[in-house]
Amino acid sequence: MSDRYIDFANSSLGQRLVAALGLPSPARLERWEAGRLRPVDGALLLGGGPLARNVSAFAHKLTEHIYSYGPEPLLAQAWIPGHGPTLKAVLFDASDLQHTGQLKQLREFFQPLLRNLDHSAHLVILGRDPQTLSDPFAASAQRALEGFSRSLAKELRNGGTLQLLYVGAGAEDQLEGALRFFLSPKSAYVSGQVVRLKACATQVQDWTRPLAGRQALVTGAARGIGASIAETLARDGAEVVLLDVPAAKADLDALAGRLGGQAITLDICAEDAATRLIEQLPGGIDIVVHNAGITRDKTLANMTPEFWDAVLAVNLNAPQVLTKALLDSGTLHDNGRVILLASISGIAGNRGQTNYAASKAGLIGLAQAWAPLLEDRGISLNAVAPGFIETQMTAHIPFALREAGRRMSSLGQGGLPQDVAEAVAWLAQPGSGAVSGQALRVCGQSVLGA
Ligand SMILES: NC(=O)c1ccc[n+]([C@@H]2O[C@H](COP(=O)([O-])OP(=O)(O)OC[C@H]3O[C@@H](n4cnc5c(N)ncnc54)[C@H](O)[C@@H]3O)[C@@H](O)[C@H]2O)c1
Repeated sequence: MSDRYIDFANSSLGQRLVAALGLPSPARLERWEAGRLRPVDGALLLGGGPLARNVSAFAHKLTEHIYSYGPEPLLAQAWIPGHGPTLKAVLFDASDLQHTGQLKQLREFFQPLLRNLDHSAHLVILGRDPQTLSDPFAASAQRALEGFSRSLAKELRNGGTLQLLYVGAGAEDQLEGALRFFLSPKSAYVSGQVVRLKACATQVQDWTRPLAGRQALVTGAARGIGASIAETLARDGAEVVLLDVPAAKADLDALAGRLGGQAITLDICAEDAATRLIEQLPGGIDIVVHNAGITRDKTLANMTPEFWDAVLAVNLNAPQVLTKALLDSGTLHDNGRVILLASISGIAGNRGQTNYAASKAGLIGLAQAWAPLLEDRGISLNAVAPGFIETQMTAHIPFALREAGRRMSSLGQGGLPQDVAEAVAWLAQPGSGAVSGQALRVCGQSVLGA
């Protein structure tokens, strides 16, 4: 469903009215378009500590326009505030900040460039996970990056985003994949996130088709976010298997036909769902996206057992049962990727959604608890938690709540199914075993539960 307010706020009359009345002024976000090759369409600025040098080694694959800023020996052509080009992407390595006095480097680096950011600019700060540091002052300085980055993300205008990546020992060689996502329009609706990278044995071979040779199963693929995920995984080279309920067969077959994929009609809550699914995947599977989900909203006082049971069965029990069966039968290959569609409702809670929020929080807990147990097989398990996404599910929300859902975020608008799909596609990559047991929000830095 379209958001007419964005069009209005970006019209010449709208811009004046919005400014005069102090209303939110959401930017039109730039998104990844088919055929595009370079992640950064403009100038990339590098600065800060030693990891910026790691990035400079592959930065020419991100963009032709690389600049550096700061006191460090120059990594690239010097960027001069007010004279250099406007910046489409910025990377600052704060991993060597060890004590409070050094934190001023954040202000010194970022302040001069904030008025020189291009439209939909993407910023990334690199750090070291405080929990891995033995020096309490260094850990405190690295934790300070979280407050800084989440706050600066809220101050960005014009569709800008900012994330903090804690880079674990040995994870440096996975930075390219992460930056191809976080410095590009693929992460248009992701902001204010903290992501931890760890070492990962597998790498992407071909960045134009990062999922080539991989088989991907997407549940609930007939429409909405699931359809977009299937399209995006296929775009990235995966062979897709699309699953949905028998009632959605016509849409499912049409999409599978268009993507050259396989369609499976199956209710994931059926008694024999796991057996039937495994039968239809004789060659096994590399990527499993548990996207099928339902809402049956009522306050708890009015919640029927049927509403409660249906939501918990589809959203939480089925992903648990199916994933376990795929693992136990060996259908899910080693180095597999499992992605669970959670929701910020599962983080923040939502009135009228005790059942839904419980199911989505349960998925986040599942990813956290199961990921370490699957590490020795190279399998990663993550949750993606969308905020307000423009789909048939959210089109049914009453107008006032819908508007609140859209505007109560740093980007001031709802996201698109494509935004969630891009995050899933990134987590599905061979190198994204660097991320596991985490929940990535795709919510425009919604104020809910942040
Ligand atoms: N739209 C949003 O704003 C939003 C926000 C947060 C999370 N999510 C989550 O993202 C996922 C997709 O959401 P959407 O908005 O595209 O929903 P949607 O209702 O448009 O699509 C869900 C799909 O799942 C399928 N499905 C439902 N029950 C099934 C079952 N038992 N077996 C097989 N398939 C089944 C449906 O037929 C449908 O095609 C859901 O898990 C949802 O909870 C959505």
